[in-house]
Amino acid sequence: MISPLVGSDRYFAKNDAPILFKKAKNYTVTDQNGNQYIDFILGLGPVILGHSDEEFVRRISEQLSNGLSFPGFADVHTELAKVYEAQYQDMRVVTLFKTSSEAVTAAMRCAMLETGRSKFIRCGFLGWHDSQIANTPSWHEWPGSEKREALRFSQGMRGIDGQQGVFNWTDGDITSLETLLSEHGDTTAAFAIDVYQLAFMTMETLQQATALCRQYGVKIIIDETKTAGRTNPAGMLDTQAIPADYIILGKAVGNGLPLAVLLGKPEHIKIYQSARIGGTHTKEVLSAHAGIIVADIMQQREGYARLPLICQKIVSTINAAITHSATTELLSATSLLNDTLFDLRFSDPMLNNFAAREQLKQTMIAEGIFMLQGHNSFVCLAHEQIDFSQLEDTLTTALRNWSTQL
Ligand SMILES: Cc1ncc(COP(=O)(O)O)c(C=O)c1O
Repeated sequence: MISPLVGSDRYFAKNDAPILFKKAKNYTVTDQNGNQYIDFILGLGPVILGHSDEEFVRRISEQLSNGLSFPGFADVHTELAKVYEAQYQDMRVVTLFKTSSEAVTAAMRCAMLETGRSKFIRCGFLGWHDSQIANTPSWHEWPGSEKREALRFSQGMRGIDGQQGVFNWTDGDITSLETLLSEHGDTTAAFAIDVYQLAFMTMETLQQATALCRQYGVKIIIDETKTAGRTNPAGMLDTQAIPADYIILGKAVGNGLPLAVLLGKPEHIKIYQSARIGGTHTKEVLSAHAGIIVADIMQQREGYARLPLICQKIVSTINAAITHSATTELLSATSLLNDTLFDLRFSDPMLNNFAAREQLKQTMIAEGIFMLQGHNSFVCLAHEQIDFSQLEDTLTTALRNWSTQL
């Protein structure tokens, strides 16, 4: 048995022994036994430059000797806010958090105070707090997967019975949203969406959905946790086209240091002040420095332009390996969200063969590759240095081994 007992967090094993990570450099991670792997998980998205990027490490280290937590906010927090406010001219940073789960909870509370309503419509994974996850399906599954409909986490949480009014919009069908709103629109505080759901619906549908919500006075929470710091410093949606009341940033904005950001409308400052959001670590400074440093390095290295090219290269390499291993009828790789991350897309009947899909992940680990299934994988600048022809060979071997076991 290993300790900590990892809760529900991701746990990896090889030959039934746990993999515990020891160190990471550029696009690789190394385990306790010295095995090195190519990493497409990247801490589930935060590592955007690459592991232990030398410039990032040097600039962060320089800040360590200036103190870590003060009685109140520091000037670095205001400097950090400017980075994101430059992208969303009519929004202001409300406060900073360590995790996006907290930032989404804070947005929900502010929306309730603003509207005097308490119901929510959710679309996508929004974090692990009760009102975000209780009674939700597997939001990262492609349409047609049984897991996209089956509700999970229906015990041990508040906010799960119908009276507490938290609803899922899972099918991306405007008619079903209209039905929900006609019954609950007048008592719903906010519609919260993970922009990753644009993998499964068009921008026009999202635009229609948010416009419909507005007709009922429902606030719009746009969750850019997976996308912030990838296409732009603060996310990919054009808020002129899809107006937001709240925006959440997370993951890549800190390059691995824990940083999440809540933006809101400056005219509601009094409401935010009365909401009692924020805690001990809200004012910690190292992750705020990280936010500034990573945005600066991404600009300098033209990282926002390079990332899509790297993503396309990874996806074409995986698809070449799929062709060589004669598995094209089982799956393909697809780049998503302006080519800033990618997913494996399984075809029928593999889509609902969850045991075989999990086996693919294990087979990749055996060949020294960490890649997800049932959830997108991530891309970082350091992936540019991969030996792509070797990666193609390794993936071909992994996919061949996998398909012969089926
Ligand atoms: C869209 C979205 N929102 C919120 C969260 C929760 O973020 P955290 O794990 O930082 O609490 C995640 C995490 O994956 C996410 O993808």
